Amino acid sequence: MISGLRNLKIILTVVTIITVLGIFFTTNRANFYHHLQLNSLLAKKAEQNVIHYTIKPEKLIVYNASRPSGCRRKFNRAHCLKDLQNQTGLKQCGDPECSCFPLEVFEKPTPASFLGTFPPITESMLPIEKELLDVEVLVDIKKTSSAILSKLVLVSSSTMFKVGDIINVRVDVKDGTGRQRTVGADFVQVWMKSAKGPRRASSAEVVDLKNGSYVATLRALWEGDSIIVGALPFTREASAFNFQLGREYRSINLYVGHFKKAKLKEFTLCSMFSVIPGYKLICNLTETNYGYGWYCGKPFNGNLTCNDFVFAKYYEDVYIPLTLALYNVFERHDRKIMISTQIKLKIESGRTSQPQPNKIDCTKLSRRETWNMIQPTGYFNGTVWEHIKCHNPVNQRNFLNCFKNTTLIVFGDSTVRQYYDHIRNVFICKQTTEKWTKRKWYKASHCQVPRYNFSLTWAVQELPFEEALKAPDGKTKSKPASVLLDEASSSGRIVFVIHYYVHFMRMHYSSFIERIRSLKTPIRNALKRNKNIHIAIKSPHVFYITRCPTHFSIYHGKLYMDILKTELAEFHDKVWFLNFWDMSTAFENDKMHPPNDFVWQNLRLLAGYVCNK
Ligand SMILES: *[C@@H]1O[C@H](CO)[C@@H](O)[C@H](O)[C@H]1NC(C)=O
Ligand SMILES: *[C@@H]1O[C@H](CO)[C@@H](O)[C@H](O)[C@H]1NC(C)=O
Ligand SMILES: *[C@@H]1O[C@H](CO)[C@@H](O)[C@H](O)[C@H]1NC(C)=O
Ligand SMILES: *[C@@H]1O[C@H](CO)[C@@H](O)[C@H](O)[C@H]1NC(C)=O
Ligand SMILES: *[C@@H]1O[C@H](CO)[C@@H](O)[C@H](O)[C@H]1NC(C)=O
Ligand SMILES: *[C@@H]1O[C@H](CO)[C@@H](O)[C@H](O)[C@H]1NC(C)=O
Ligand SMILES: *[C@@H]1O[C@H](CO)[C@@H](O)[C@H](O)[C@H]1NC(C)=O
Ligand SMILES: *[C@@H]1O[C@H](CO)[C@@H](O)[C@H](O)[C@H]1NC(C)=O
Repeated sequence: MISGLRNLKIILTVVTIITVLGIFFTTNRANFYHHLQLNSLLAKKAEQNVIHYTIKPEKLIVYNASRPSGCRRKFNRAHCLKDLQNQTGLKQCGDPECSCFPLEVFEKPTPASFLGTFPPITESMLPIEKELLDVEVLVDIKKTSSAILSKLVLVSSSTMFKVGDIINVRVDVKDGTGRQRTVGADFVQVWMKSAKGPRRASSAEVVDLKNGSYVATLRALWEGDSIIVGALPFTREASAFNFQLGREYRSINLYVGHFKKAKLKEFTLCSMFSVIPGYKLICNLTETNYGYGWYCGKPFNGNLTCNDFVFAKYYEDVYIPLTLALYNVFERHDRKIMISTQIKLKIESGRTSQPQPNKIDCTKLSRRETWNMIQPTGYFNGTVWEHIKCHNPVNQRNFLNCFKNTTLIVFGDSTVRQYYDHIRNVFICKQTTEKWTKRKWYKASHCQVPRYNFSLTWAVQELPFEEALKAPDGKTKSKPASVLLDEASSSGRIVFVIHYYVHFMRMHYSSFIERIRSLKTPIRNALKRNKNIHIAIKSPHVFYITRCPTHFSIYHGKLYMDILKTELAEFHDKVWFLNFWDMSTAFENDKMHPPNDFVWQNLRLLAGYVCNK
């Protein structure tokens, strides 16, 4: 066993050296780094008897182009590059923005090996990551898929359809030279909308044929002239890079931790992972984060201890070296990269009239259906989301009737805060917690409408989140969903909405899987304890505009859709799935924080499902 391992190490080292030399001589580019942690990583993995995958040595080269703009906050910390030792620890400037840290991983291109050696990821690889393992780092932008040159092809010969018809479209993806691609894994989206008149819109289910073609299945749901359009937000090569980043860096951003005692203070770096670049000594603050991994570098000032941690805040992205081609791929902040061809259709009244008069009420739709439905699950009629399988009678006048004698707990990030804000403003819910003094409020909030015996809580997601403050009890003020479910009363009607999404997208997806998995026991127990608790999972949503495209925002959303369905499979009969992925695709939603119209349709769907339950 041991000698086998040694042999493996030797072979690997030889292969690596040969490859590195080979690349050195063929490209004559001295500026690359060799990932030193590979061998120890492999050894550790073998020890733990975890199946491992070797990242091809060729993929371990990094290049010298700077990262795209927008992936760095505009902190002016250029001074940190000069005279660094004199500005860290005890000699920090006193403000997180100008503070310097022992390894300036923000200010200079930083290969993953500089961050330290992470423990191996024990979660097994998703098939899509396995499929993309061998994809070479992109060096020629012409070799990746091109939305402009790709084509939408109507599979049927006629462009006339009747309401209710299925419409099949093939997407033929081309590379930058116009050649047909012969491999899959591009992120292709297809949707359909009215060509004129009031807005109607719905999305398509897209299946990857793995040969460069994709099949999109749409349904004619309204009458009139319509068009089918497509987008390609991330290509195969970009997604391969996403997985590589996740595996090598684990998290491509770091948090700043504030340590404070009387007049002493120091800022250190923090993360979900126990490897903090530049810090040999680490504070394990996992207990502070209710058992979810949380670590900060230990202050250099010996008079500050780990107990003096008071606050953590999202800080800055690691400066990741990219090839010029990838740089160009990520320079684009608007990921709504449209396929240039469109398909025009005429839809006539037909077999099914919409809305179907015989549709059941949404409250009667089985919970399992909410998980099993494929796109389109509905369509926009103007600003109203019409469900395809059920009639949703909820409107502004009767919304609160669905929540009489109810405690509504919405758990999650700022997109869930939008739910709270909307209900508070539109339904005059009287806030009982501290007045919000800024728009980006990060403290749990509560309001009530006595006439309906309705109360609403926005429960703030634990770390990784935008920020977290330590409370006197030694834990942060942001209780995780798992804890809140355990604490939920055993009587009384409770509607509990759970959402995790954007704060995980800078991490490898295994972190998301672990977090979702940790909900299983609490959900199981809460459902057992209280017959009147109704749990709904808010799905990720599409948003195209992103400050830093190397966060792969919606590519993660797409992965999380599948992860949620798989991980929570045992609850498909007991918990609702709020599919806003589909809704936001049809909506062509741009911003991470969707507009009010969209937020209201989210709430309407929730109310429609749980009403009178
Ligand atoms: C740090 O500061 C001291 C005293 O101000 C100075 O002598 C020293 O050269 C500085 N160190 C570096 C690395 O610049
Ligand atoms: C991919 O396979 C499908 C089904 O076999 C076929 O219709 C399509 O033309 C193929 N696409 C390419 C690019 O070969
Ligand atoms: C859209 O809504 C309007 C009025 O709200 C209704 O008359 C019409 O039937 C709806 N159309 C479809 C296709 O659902
Ligand atoms: C950090 O502490 C938690 C429990 O508080 C423990 O489970 C975990 O293993 C610790 N992490 C490290 C890296 O020691
Ligand atoms: C730490 O505290 C001791 C005792 O009060 C003091 O002598 C020392 O200067 C302090 N060190 C720092 C870095 O503040
Ligand atoms: C790296 O640096 C060299 C020399 O400064 C430059 O020619 C090249 O374009 C840079 N970028 C890449 C991706 O090689
Ligand atoms: C709300 O609770 C009160 C007191 O338990 C009860 O009288 C009333 O009927 C309930 N209302 C609804 C709509 O369930
Ligand atoms: C309010 O609703 C709760 C159940 O959520 C119920 O126990 C309580 O009796 C209700 N209070 C009134 C005044 O109706």
